[in-house]
Amino acid sequence: MQDQVESLRNEALAIVSAATDQSALEAARVRFLGKNGAVTALSEGMRHVPKEDRPAMGKLLNDLRSTVTTALEEAQSRILEQADTAALSELDLTLPGTARARGSLHPLTQLLDRAVQSFRRMGFAIADGPDIETEWHCFDALNTPADHPARNDQDTFYLPDGRLLRSHTSSVQIRVMENTPPPVRIIAPGSAYRRDEVDATHLAQFTQMEGLYVAEHVTLGDLKGTLEFFFRELFGSGTEIQFRPHFFPFTEPSYEIDIRAEALGGEWMELAGCGMVDPAVFEAVCKRRGDRVYDPGRVSGFAFGFGLERLAMMVSRIPDIRMLVENDLRFLKQF
Ligand code: DAH
Repeated sequence: MQDQVESLRNEALAIVSAATDQSALEAARVRFLGKNGAVTALSEGMRHVPKEDRPAMGKLLNDLRSTVTTALEEAQSRILEQADTAALSELDLTLPGTARARGSLHPLTQLLDRAVQSFRRMGFAIADGPDIETEWHCFDALNTPADHPARNDQDTFYLPDGRLLRSHTSSVQIRVMENTPPPVRIIAPGSAYRRDEVDATHLAQFTQMEGLYVAEHVTLGDLKGTLEFFFRELFGSGTEIQFRPHFFPFTEPSYEIDIRAEALGGEWMELAGCGMVDPAVFEAVCKRRGDRVYDPGRVSGFAFGFGLERLAMMVSRIPDIRMLVENDLRFLKQF
């Protein structure tokens, strides 16, 4: 029997090492280690081995089984390795790779980031509000009378339930004061919606940035200093800024801000609205809050708002506002 074991071992090792693919290997496994395989058959012969020789024979058979198993495993990894090498031999490492397209931030996002950075340096925090607003937050609390043209359903998108798509981000002023006692110093970037005919200078959905600073003793000087700092950061220190008296329901006095800068082609451009928060706005907030922390006799504040698309068009010399929403890569890749 010992000789039989020896010759079976030699035979098995020869066949396994000659195998060149998975199926040959599997056939060898079945032939030697399978249920009806040669090694199994040999084990069955143990019955005829004298009792005293059985332990030694058992050990021989176990060794045989594990030798063949190990040989099969080694052959398996040899075959896999050869398959890998064969596959890789086709690979031409000198071929140029597939370039990955690298994205970049949208020009509007880039401008927004710069604007936010600038105001953050002056201590403004970012505030947020819903795009679907109540008339009260969007108009009434902002001292806008019921017959004001902006409230017309020709100009504003109304929902069947009476709410509306906010026509400006000024509603966030109200939301912040409703929920936070003074002092507050916030900017609120976000979408605004108007029923405008879409053309080279108008979108029905656009982006605004609102600002509000309320505390004791906030003055018009603070308003001018803050916005001058901001626009000079954006357009350069030589930028000229003009506050032209205007009217907004929610500020008194109110101004429009005109800018003249080399970076903008040297022409005066109207860029933003601003003013000192109207006492009527503070009164509306007090009434809603049920306290007097925004008593206009105790606090004062300024507010401002501007459209980011307009600004982006000026900063990046974009001739048509629609380019900012079409997402044509030939356009976007230039930024
Ligand atoms: N809400 C105004 C608009 O949409 C912009 C604006 C003007 C905001 C003056 C203000 C402000 O906060 O004080 O045109």
